[in-house]
Amino acid sequence: MIPSKNKICLVTGGAGFIGSHTCEALLSRGYHVRILDNLHPRIHPNGLPDWISSDIEFIKGDATQRLDLGSALQGVSYVFHLCAYQDYLPDFSTFFHTNVVSTALLYELIVEKDIPVQKVVVASSQAVYGEGTYQCPEHGKVFPELRPENRLEEGIWDPLCPDCDSAITWTLTDESRINPQNAYAISKYSQELTALRLGRRYEIPTTAYRYSIVQGPRQSLFNAYSGACRIFCLSALLGKSLSIYEDGAQVRDFINIEDVVSANLLALENQETNYRAYNVGGGKAHTILEFANIVAEVFTEEVQLEFTKKYRFGDTRHICSDISALKALGWNPGNSPKKSVIDYVKWLKEQAQVEDVLTTANENMKKLNVLRDTKST
Ligand SMILES: NC(=O)c1ccc[n+]([C@@H]2O[C@H](COP(=O)([O-])OP(=O)(O)OC[C@H]3O[C@@H](n4cnc5c(N)ncnc54)[C@H](O)[C@@H]3O)[C@@H](O)[C@H]2O)c1
Repeated sequence: MIPSKNKICLVTGGAGFIGSHTCEALLSRGYHVRILDNLHPRIHPNGLPDWISSDIEFIKGDATQRLDLGSALQGVSYVFHLCAYQDYLPDFSTFFHTNVVSTALLYELIVEKDIPVQKVVVASSQAVYGEGTYQCPEHGKVFPELRPENRLEEGIWDPLCPDCDSAITWTLTDESRINPQNAYAISKYSQELTALRLGRRYEIPTTAYRYSIVQGPRQSLFNAYSGACRIFCLSALLGKSLSIYEDGAQVRDFINIEDVVSANLLALENQETNYRAYNVGGGKAHTILEFANIVAEVFTEEVQLEFTKKYRFGDTRHICSDISALKALGWNPGNSPKKSVIDYVKWLKEQAQVEDVLTTANENMKKLNVLRDTKST
Protein backbone atom coordinates (compact mmCIF):
# COMPACT_ATOMS: atom_id res chain seq x y z
CA MET A 1 0.00 0.00 0.00
CA ILE A 2 1.39 3.43 -0.97
CA PRO A 3 0.69 5.93 1.83
CA SER A 4 -1.54 8.90 1.08
CA LYS A 5 0.93 11.71 0.86
CA ASN A 6 -1.20 14.55 2.20
CA LYS A 7 -1.48 12.73 5.51
CA ILE A 8 0.50 13.77 8.55
CA CYS A 9 3.82 12.14 9.33
CA LEU A 10 5.17 12.82 12.83
CA VAL A 11 8.94 12.68 13.27
CA THR A 12 10.10 12.70 16.89
CA GLY A 13 13.66 14.00 17.12
CA GLY A 14 13.09 15.62 13.71
CA ALA A 15 15.42 18.53 14.46
CA GLY A 16 18.32 16.11 14.83
CA PHE A 17 20.67 14.52 12.33
CA ILE A 18 18.73 11.56 10.93
CA GLY A 19 15.36 13.17 11.67
CA SER A 20 15.95 16.39 9.75
CA HIS A 21 17.14 14.59 6.61
CA THR A 22 14.18 12.23 6.87
CA CYS A 23 11.78 15.18 7.24
CA GLU A 24 13.14 16.79 4.08
CA ALA A 25 12.71 13.60 2.08
CA LEU A 26 9.16 13.21 3.38
CA LEU A 27 8.36 16.81 2.53
CA SER A 28 9.69 16.44 -1.01
CA ARG A 29 7.47 13.39 -1.45
CA GLY A 30 4.40 15.38 -0.50
CA TYR A 31 3.82 14.33 3.10
CA HIS A 32 2.66 16.84 5.69
CA VAL A 33 5.57 16.72 8.13
CA ARG A 34 5.34 17.47 11.85
CA ILE A 35 8.29 17.42 14.23
CA LEU A 36 8.22 16.86 17.97
CA ASP A 37 11.63 17.71 19.41
CA ASN A 38 12.70 19.06 22.78
CA LEU A 39 15.84 20.65 21.29
CA HIS A 40 18.02 18.87 23.80
CA PRO A 41 20.74 21.33 24.87
CA ARG A 42 23.56 18.83 24.31
CA ILE A 43 22.54 18.57 20.64
CA HIS A 44 21.09 22.04 20.04
CA PRO A 45 22.66 24.53 22.50
CA ASN A 46 21.60 27.37 20.18
CA GLY A 47 17.96 26.32 19.90
CA LEU A 48 16.09 25.50 16.70
CA PRO A 49 18.55 24.76 13.88
CA ASP A 50 18.14 26.84 10.73
CA TRP A 51 17.82 23.76 8.52
CA ILE A 52 14.24 23.15 9.66
CA SER A 53 12.08 24.32 6.74
CA SER A 54 9.15 26.63 7.45
CA ASP A 55 7.03 24.09 5.52
CA ILE A 56 7.44 21.73 8.46
CA GLU A 57 5.18 22.02 11.48
CA PHE A 58 7.50 22.21 14.49
CA ILE A 59 6.38 21.42 18.02
CA LYS A 60 8.86 21.93 20.82
CA GLY A 61 8.13 19.23 23.32
CA ASP A 62 9.27 16.11 25.07
CA ALA A 63 8.31 12.69 23.72
CA THR A 64 8.29 11.26 27.24
CA GLN A 65 5.56 13.68 28.28
CA ARG A 66 1.94 12.62 27.76
CA LEU A 67 0.65 16.12 26.94
CA ASP A 68 3.43 16.89 24.45
CA LEU A 69 3.32 13.56 22.64
CA GLY A 70 -0.48 13.45 22.80
CA SER A 71 -0.88 16.80 21.05
CA ALA A 72 1.83 15.93 18.48
CA LEU A 73 -0.07 12.75 17.62
CA GLN A 74 -3.31 14.49 16.72
CA GLY A 75 -4.40 13.54 13.21
CA VAL A 76 -1.21 11.60 12.52
CA SER A 77 -1.08 8.64 10.08
CA TYR A 78 2.65 7.80 10.20
CA VAL A 79 5.31 8.08 12.88
CA PHE A 80 9.11 8.02 12.77
CA HIS A 81 10.19 7.70 16.38
CA LEU A 82 13.77 8.91 16.16
CA CYS A 83 14.39 10.97 19.29
CA ALA A 84 16.75 9.33 21.75
CA TYR A 85 19.27 9.69 24.50
CA GLN A 86 22.57 8.31 23.19
CA ASP A 87 26.28 7.70 23.88
CA TYR A 88 28.29 6.26 26.74
CA LEU A 89 27.67 8.25 29.90
CA PRO A 90 26.69 6.31 33.02
CA ASP A 91 23.34 8.03 33.73
CA PHE A 92 21.65 4.71 32.94
CA SER A 93 18.09 5.65 33.82
CA THR A 94 18.05 8.51 31.29
CA PHE A 95 18.50 6.00 28.44
CA PHE A 96 15.45 4.06 29.56
CA HIS A 97 13.40 7.12 30.36
CA THR A 98 13.92 8.74 26.96
CA ASN A 99 14.16 5.72 24.69
CA VAL A 100 11.81 3.18 26.24
CA VAL A 101 9.24 5.24 28.16
CA SER A 102 8.61 7.45 25.11
CA THR A 103 8.02 4.34 22.98
CA ALA A 104 5.60 2.77 25.45
CA LEU A 105 3.80 6.12 25.71
CA LEU A 106 3.57 6.34 21.92
CA TYR A 107 1.67 3.03 21.72
CA GLU A 108 -0.34 3.82 24.85
CA LEU A 109 -1.62 7.05 23.29
CA ILE A 110 -2.27 5.51 19.86
CA VAL A 111 -4.36 2.76 21.50
CA GLU A 112 -6.06 5.01 24.07
CA LYS A 113 -7.07 7.68 21.54
CA ASP A 114 -7.70 5.13 18.79
CA ILE A 115 -5.48 7.04 16.35
CA PRO A 116 -5.50 5.30 12.95
CA VAL A 117 -1.70 5.15 12.62
CA GLN A 118 -0.72 3.18 9.52
CA LYS A 119 2.97 2.84 10.25
CA VAL A 120 5.52 3.41 13.01
CA VAL A 121 9.24 3.23 12.30
CA VAL A 122 11.48 3.17 15.37
CA ALA A 123 15.20 3.86 15.37
CA SER A 124 17.08 1.06 17.03
CA SER A 125 20.80 0.50 16.73
CA GLN A 126 23.49 -1.95 15.76
CA ALA A 127 24.53 -1.55 19.40
CA VAL A 128 21.91 -4.20 20.29
CA TYR A 129 24.38 -6.86 19.09
CA GLY A 130 27.11 -5.99 21.59
CA GLU A 131 30.19 -7.85 20.41
CA GLY A 132 28.28 -9.30 17.48
CA THR A 133 29.01 -12.56 15.71
CA TYR A 134 32.36 -14.36 15.56
CA GLN A 135 33.57 -17.64 14.14
CA CYS A 136 35.44 -20.15 16.33
CA PRO A 137 37.41 -22.89 14.49
CA GLU A 138 36.00 -25.41 16.96
CA HIS A 139 32.55 -24.07 17.92
CA GLY A 140 31.39 -22.34 14.76
CA LYS A 141 29.31 -19.18 15.29
CA VAL A 142 29.84 -17.68 18.74
CA PHE A 143 28.63 -14.54 20.50
CA PRO A 144 31.21 -13.21 22.96
CA GLU A 145 30.20 -11.23 26.04
CA LEU A 146 31.64 -7.92 27.19
CA ARG A 147 35.43 -8.02 27.03
CA PRO A 148 36.93 -8.48 30.51
CA GLU A 149 38.50 -5.46 32.14
CA ASN A 150 41.79 -7.24 33.01
CA ARG A 151 42.47 -7.99 29.33
CA LEU A 152 41.58 -4.46 28.24
CA GLU A 153 43.91 -3.01 30.89
CA GLU A 154 46.70 -5.08 29.36
CA GLY A 155 45.85 -3.78 25.89
CA ILE A 156 44.62 -7.19 24.73
CA TRP A 157 41.70 -6.21 22.58
CA ASP A 158 40.25 -9.19 20.77
CA PRO A 159 37.59 -11.31 22.48
CA LEU A 160 38.06 -15.05 22.86
CA CYS A 161 35.69 -17.93 22.18
CA PRO A 162 33.22 -18.04 25.12
CA ASP A 163 33.35 -21.87 24.97
CA CYS A 164 37.06 -22.68 24.61
CA ASP A 165 39.02 -19.41 24.96
CA SER A 166 40.54 -19.82 21.48
CA ALA A 167 41.16 -16.95 19.12
CA ILE A 168 38.08 -16.13 17.05
CA THR A 169 37.44 -14.04 13.94
CA TRP A 170 34.61 -11.58 13.44
CA THR A 171 31.97 -12.30 10.85
CA LEU A 172 28.87 -10.45 9.60
CA THR A 173 26.12 -10.02 12.18
CA ASP A 174 22.59 -10.70 10.98
CA GLU A 175 19.37 -9.84 12.84
CA SER A 176 18.87 -13.21 14.50
CA ARG A 177 20.60 -12.76 17.85
CA ILE A 178 20.97 -9.74 20.09
CA ASN A 179 23.40 -9.32 22.98
CA PRO A 180 23.29 -5.70 24.24
CA GLN A 181 26.07 -4.74 26.64
CA ASN A 182 25.63 -1.11 27.65
CA ALA A 183 22.74 1.05 28.88
CA TYR A 184 22.15 2.62 25.47
CA ALA A 185 22.09 -0.75 23.72
CA ILE A 186 19.82 -2.35 26.34
CA SER A 187 17.44 0.59 26.07
CA LYS A 188 17.42 0.35 22.27
CA TYR A 189 16.57 -3.33 22.39
CA SER A 190 13.87 -2.66 25.00
CA GLN A 191 12.54 0.07 22.75
CA GLU A 192 12.28 -2.11 19.65
CA LEU A 193 10.78 -4.98 21.63
CA THR A 194 8.16 -2.59 23.03
CA ALA A 195 7.38 -1.24 19.57
CA LEU A 196 7.31 -4.53 17.67
CA ARG A 197 5.34 -6.47 20.29
CA LEU A 198 2.77 -3.76 21.06
CA GLY A 199 2.56 -2.97 17.35
CA ARG A 200 1.71 -6.57 16.49
CA ARG A 201 -0.67 -6.95 19.38
CA TYR A 202 -2.66 -3.82 18.53
CA GLU A 203 -2.22 -4.10 14.73
CA ILE A 204 -0.16 -0.94 14.41
CA PRO A 205 2.26 -1.79 11.57
CA THR A 206 5.77 -1.25 12.96
CA THR A 207 9.35 -1.59 11.73
CA ALA A 208 12.50 -1.32 13.85
CA TYR A 209 15.69 -0.27 12.12
CA ARG A 210 19.06 -1.16 13.60
CA TYR A 211 21.21 1.57 12.10
CA SER A 212 24.97 1.11 11.97
CA ILE A 213 27.15 4.21 12.40
CA VAL A 214 25.36 6.91 10.42
CA GLN A 215 27.40 9.69 8.86
CA GLY A 216 26.75 12.97 7.07
CA PRO A 217 26.01 16.68 7.56
CA ARG A 218 24.10 17.95 10.62
CA GLN A 219 25.42 15.35 13.01
CA SER A 220 25.55 17.68 16.00
CA LEU A 221 28.95 19.34 16.30
CA PHE A 222 28.21 20.06 19.95
CA ASN A 223 28.12 16.45 21.06
CA ALA A 224 31.56 14.84 21.00
CA TYR A 225 30.75 11.71 23.00
CA SER A 226 30.43 9.40 20.00
CA GLY A 227 30.62 9.28 16.22
CA ALA A 228 33.99 8.68 14.56
CA CYS A 229 33.15 10.99 11.64
CA ARG A 230 32.27 14.01 13.74
CA ILE A 231 35.02 13.46 16.33
CA PHE A 232 37.79 12.96 13.75
CA CYS A 233 36.56 15.78 11.50
CA LEU A 234 36.18 18.20 14.43
CA SER A 235 39.67 17.25 15.64
CA ALA A 236 41.18 17.83 12.20
CA LEU A 237 39.35 21.13 11.78
CA LEU A 238 40.58 22.35 15.18
CA GLY A 239 44.17 21.33 14.34
CA LYS A 240 44.18 18.48 16.86
CA SER A 241 45.46 14.98 16.22
CA LEU A 242 42.90 12.22 15.66
CA SER A 243 42.75 10.14 18.86
CA ILE A 244 42.71 6.43 18.15
CA TYR A 245 41.37 4.25 20.97
CA GLU A 246 42.59 0.64 21.37
CA ASP A 247 44.85 -0.14 18.38
CA GLY A 248 42.65 1.21 15.61
CA ALA A 249 42.00 -2.27 14.20
CA GLN A 250 38.37 -2.24 15.42
CA VAL A 251 36.05 -3.05 12.54
CA ARG A 252 32.90 -1.04 11.86
CA ASP A 253 30.46 -0.46 9.03
CA PHE A 254 29.58 3.14 8.28
CA ILE A 255 26.43 4.22 6.50
CA ASN A 256 25.74 7.46 4.72
CA ILE A 257 22.70 9.50 5.78
CA GLU A 258 21.23 9.43 2.26
CA ASP A 259 21.14 5.64 2.37
CA VAL A 260 19.47 5.76 5.80
CA VAL A 261 16.82 8.13 4.46
CA SER A 262 16.07 5.81 1.53
CA ALA A 263 15.74 2.90 3.98
CA ASN A 264 13.36 5.01 6.10
CA LEU A 265 11.15 5.76 3.10
CA LEU A 266 11.16 2.09 2.15
CA ALA A 267 9.89 1.11 5.61
CA LEU A 268 7.08 3.62 5.31
CA GLU A 269 6.00 2.51 1.88
CA ASN A 270 6.67 -1.25 1.92
CA GLN A 271 4.37 -3.22 4.20
CA GLU A 272 6.60 -6.29 3.92
CA THR A 273 8.76 -4.57 6.53
CA ASN A 274 5.99 -4.72 9.15
CA TYR A 275 6.64 -6.26 12.55
CA ARG A 276 10.31 -6.98 12.20
CA ALA A 277 13.75 -5.50 12.80
CA TYR A 278 16.26 -4.88 10.01
CA ASN A 279 19.92 -4.00 9.89
CA VAL A 280 20.58 -0.74 8.06
CA GLY A 281 24.32 -0.65 7.51
CA GLY A 282 26.96 0.24 4.98
CA GLY A 283 27.58 -3.36 3.96
CA LYS A 284 31.37 -2.96 4.01
CA ALA A 285 33.84 -3.36 6.87
CA HIS A 286 36.42 -0.66 7.64
CA THR A 287 38.86 -0.43 10.51
CA ILE A 288 38.85 2.73 12.60
CA LEU A 289 42.39 3.34 11.38
CA GLU A 290 41.27 3.13 7.74
CA PHE A 291 38.49 5.55 8.54
CA ALA A 292 40.87 7.98 10.29
CA ASN A 293 43.05 7.87 7.17
CA ILE A 294 40.01 8.71 5.00
CA VAL A 295 39.47 11.81 7.18
CA ALA A 296 43.17 12.72 6.96
CA GLU A 297 43.01 12.35 3.16
CA VAL A 298 39.95 14.61 2.84
CA PHE A 299 41.55 17.44 4.82
CA THR A 300 44.07 19.41 2.79
CA GLU A 301 45.84 20.49 6.01
CA GLU A 302 48.35 18.16 7.73
CA VAL A 303 46.51 15.73 10.04
CA GLN A 304 48.23 13.64 12.72
CA LEU A 305 46.96 10.37 14.19
CA GLU A 306 47.57 9.71 17.89
CA PHE A 307 47.49 6.22 19.40
CA THR A 308 46.25 7.11 22.87
CA LYS A 309 46.54 3.64 24.50
CA LYS A 310 43.08 4.35 25.92
CA TYR A 311 39.79 2.56 25.50
CA ARG A 312 36.15 3.34 26.08
CA PHE A 313 34.78 0.88 28.58
CA GLY A 314 31.81 -1.02 27.12
CA ASP A 315 32.85 -0.37 23.53
CA THR A 316 32.54 -3.12 20.94
CA ARG A 317 35.67 -4.60 19.39
CA HIS A 318 34.39 -5.50 15.92
CA ILE A 319 30.93 -5.22 14.41
CA CYS A 320 29.73 -5.25 10.83
CA SER A 321 26.05 -5.73 10.01
CA ASP A 322 24.70 -8.21 7.50
CA ILE A 323 22.28 -6.14 5.42
CA SER A 324 20.98 -8.86 3.12
CA ALA A 325 17.44 -8.84 4.59
CA LEU A 326 16.78 -5.22 3.68
CA LYS A 327 18.65 -5.55 0.38
CA ALA A 328 16.25 -8.36 -0.54
CA LEU A 329 13.49 -5.69 -0.50
CA GLY A 330 15.35 -3.62 -3.09
CA TRP A 331 17.35 -1.25 -0.85
CA ASN A 332 21.02 -0.82 -1.65
CA PRO A 333 23.38 1.58 0.16
CA GLY A 334 25.42 3.26 -2.56
CA ASN A 335 27.42 5.97 -0.79
CA SER A 336 30.97 5.54 0.52
CA PRO A 337 32.38 6.70 3.88
CA LYS A 338 34.62 9.06 1.88
CA LYS A 339 31.53 10.81 0.49
CA SER A 340 30.16 11.08 4.05
CA VAL A 341 33.40 12.68 5.25
CA ILE A 342 33.54 15.09 2.27
CA ASP A 343 29.93 16.15 2.90
CA TYR A 344 30.44 16.45 6.66
CA VAL A 345 33.60 18.54 6.32
CA LYS A 346 31.93 20.84 3.80
CA TRP A 347 29.04 21.36 6.22
CA LEU A 348 31.37 21.76 9.21
CA LYS A 349 33.31 24.50 7.44
CA GLU A 350 30.06 26.37 6.74
CA GLN A 351 29.14 26.47 10.44
CA ALA A 352 29.63 29.85 12.11
CA GLN A 353 30.60 28.43 15.44
CA VAL A 354 32.82 25.39 15.84
CA GLU A 355 33.81 25.06 19.47
CA ASP A 356 36.30 22.71 21.04
CA VAL A 357 33.73 20.37 22.55
CA LEU A 358 36.22 17.50 22.31
CA THR A 359 38.29 18.47 25.34
CA THR A 360 35.22 18.74 27.58
CA ALA A 361 33.78 15.44 26.32
CA ASN A 362 37.11 13.67 26.87
CA GLU A 363 37.55 15.14 30.35
CA ASN A 364 34.01 14.17 31.25
CA MET A 365 34.42 10.60 29.97
CA LYS A 366 37.66 10.29 31.98
CA LYS A 367 36.04 11.68 35.11
CA LEU A 368 33.16 9.23 34.75
CA ASN A 369 35.62 6.38 34.10
CA VAL A 370 34.21 5.69 30.63
CA LEU A 371 37.53 6.50 28.99
CA ARG A 372 40.21 4.31 30.58
CA ASP A 373 43.98 3.93 30.32
CA THR A 374 45.83 0.74 29.59
CA LYS A 375 48.51 -0.22 32.13
CA SER A 376 51.26 0.68 29.69
CA THR A 377 50.04 4.29 29.47
N1 LIG B 1 23.50 8.60 14.38
C1 LIG B 1 23.80 7.32 14.44
O1 LIG B 1 24.91 6.90 14.07
C2 LIG B 1 22.80 6.32 14.98
C3 LIG B 1 23.14 4.97 14.98
C4 LIG B 1 22.22 4.04 15.47
C5 LIG B 1 20.98 4.47 15.91
N2 LIG B 1 20.69 5.81 15.91
C6 LIG B 1 19.37 6.21 16.39
O2 LIG B 1 18.77 7.06 15.42
C7 LIG B 1 17.98 8.06 16.07
C8 LIG B 1 18.37 9.44 15.59
O3 LIG B 1 19.73 9.66 15.90
P1 LIG B 1 20.46 11.01 15.49
O4 LIG B 1 21.88 10.65 15.22
O5 LIG B 1 19.69 11.73 14.47
O6 LIG B 1 20.43 11.80 16.86
P2 LIG B 1 20.45 13.37 17.16
O7 LIG B 1 21.00 13.51 18.51
O8 LIG B 1 21.06 14.14 16.04
O9 LIG B 1 18.90 13.72 17.16
C9 LIG B 1 18.05 13.33 18.20
C10 LIG B 1 17.01 14.41 18.35
O10 LIG B 1 16.11 14.01 19.39
C11 LIG B 1 15.81 15.13 20.18
N3 LIG B 1 15.39 14.65 21.50
C12 LIG B 1 16.16 14.07 22.46
N4 LIG B 1 15.40 13.71 23.51
C13 LIG B 1 14.11 14.06 23.20
C14 LIG B 1 12.88 13.94 23.87
N5 LIG B 1 12.80 13.40 25.10
N6 LIG B 1 11.77 14.41 23.26
C15 LIG B 1 11.82 14.98 22.02
N7 LIG B 1 12.99 15.11 21.35
C16 LIG B 1 14.12 14.65 21.93
C17 LIG B 1 17.07 15.97 20.19
O11 LIG B 1 16.84 17.32 20.52
C18 LIG B 1 17.56 15.76 18.77
O12 LIG B 1 17.07 16.77 17.90
C19 LIG B 1 18.16 7.83 17.57
O13 LIG B 1 17.08 7.08 18.03
C20 LIG B 1 19.43 7.02 17.67
O14 LIG B 1 19.44 6.20 18.81
C21 LIG B 1 21.56 6.74 15.45
